[in-house]
Amino acid sequence: MNHFELQGGELWCEGVPLVRIAEAVGTPVYVYSSATLERHFTVLRDALTGAGLKDPLIAFAVKANSNVAVLRTLARLGAGADVVSEGEIRRALAAGVPPERIVFSGVGKTDQEIAFAVETGVAEINVESEPELHAVNRVAQSLGKRATVAIRVNPDVEAGGHAKISTGKAENKFGVSFSEAERLYANASNMAGVRPAGVACHIGSQITDLAPMEAAFAKMRGLVERLKAEGLPVERLDLGGGLGVPYFNQPEPPGPDAYAAMIGRVTRGLDVQLAFEPGRMIAANAGVLIARVNHVHERPEGRKFLVLDAAMNDLLRPAMYDAYHDIRPVKPRAGEPVVYDVVGPVCETGDTFTRDRALPPMQAGDLIAFMSAGAYGAAMASEYNSRLLVPEVLVKGDDYAVVRPRPTYQDMLDRERLPDWL
Ligand code: LLP
Repeated sequence: MNHFELQGGELWCEGVPLVRIAEAVGTPVYVYSSATLERHFTVLRDALTGAGLKDPLIAFAVKANSNVAVLRTLARLGAGADVVSEGEIRRALAAGVPPERIVFSGVGKTDQEIAFAVETGVAEINVESEPELHAVNRVAQSLGKRATVAIRVNPDVEAGGHAKISTGKAENKFGVSFSEAERLYANASNMAGVRPAGVACHIGSQITDLAPMEAAFAKMRGLVERLKAEGLPVERLDLGGGLGVPYFNQPEPPGPDAYAAMIGRVTRGLDVQLAFEPGRMIAANAGVLIARVNHVHERPEGRKFLVLDAAMNDLLRPAMYDAYHDIRPVKPRAGEPVVYDVVGPVCETGDTFTRDRALPPMQAGDLIAFMSAGAYGAAMASEYNSRLLVPEVLVKGDDYAVVRPRPTYQDMLDRERLPDWL
């Protein structure tokens, strides 16, 4: 459920008409609903505790939506943060996420990032390879510290979803095999700079079938049991994120209750804290991208293009993954649906949001909303074509705030330097 609904013939976010935001802030603009973010987090937490898990750590995947106001909205409810860079650690801290709820994932952490995480005192550094374990050990020792680590396992399951976001197959770059994990865990317990506290996995994103997750988690359970049988303490099992969301025309993914029930079943009796790294399921349907139709361009062969003021640099998912986003006029006009290609102004054919989409009739100046854009939307935006970075707005009830303003062109130019020989 989300809080973007038609009221009196136009689309609102909670108690604010989207037209009002578009007029005040300009377009394109991302708009997030606090109530939806809060609802998604609480529904997941209640489902997990309802399935008998005690005190799960729900670490929101910051890469999905890294806006500090969004992070603070979730942190206030007790969310932690799953981060993959020093920048994301800094964002989580700025949002008020306590270090003991920060999980540091990622295959290529630099020494500098490791040092920053160790100094910060994050809950765990998810180690993705043997060389990385040695790097964490070395860096922590040089700081006179002992870093808490989890070993990230690649459970080698096929989770479906887009190949570009699948992470749990042996051919992917993420994590180590089960046998390697056992060996690394035992080695780590003898290292002065690390303390192995758990194991972690994440098998992919936009997963719409619980079976591969269940298969992976059952293997993870087996690993925890083997480690414990060897006398190695295991405090935490991190099961990653990945649960899919409905993108309108796709098969309904399993809901949080079914997901939690499956986890309750697979982990019953295992005496560890469970950690989760959900991104999309919390944020995707809590955000929309509002754009304006700049031109309606009809080609002689009959194709009709809606040329927007938003482009692939603002919402990359359709160009990158052929992703489907529901498109809704902010004030739908009456009339028979018309079939449009919806495109941006960037000079690439790939700057196409969709082809052959039947929509209510549109005119130049109309506003449209890309639904389900709260995850991997603004977070993946760029300035390609020297377009200004898209701003973000957070709605709460009848109120809204610009939580990342649109930069000015001067801001953009001020970041560059001309060498004195030019
Ligand atoms: N944990 C780790 C280690 C991850 O790599 C990811 C996502 C997550 C958690 C969160 O997964 P989620 O719950 O959001 O599925 N840009 C792509 C998605 C990339 C996902 C990368 N890893 C997209 O727009 O679909």
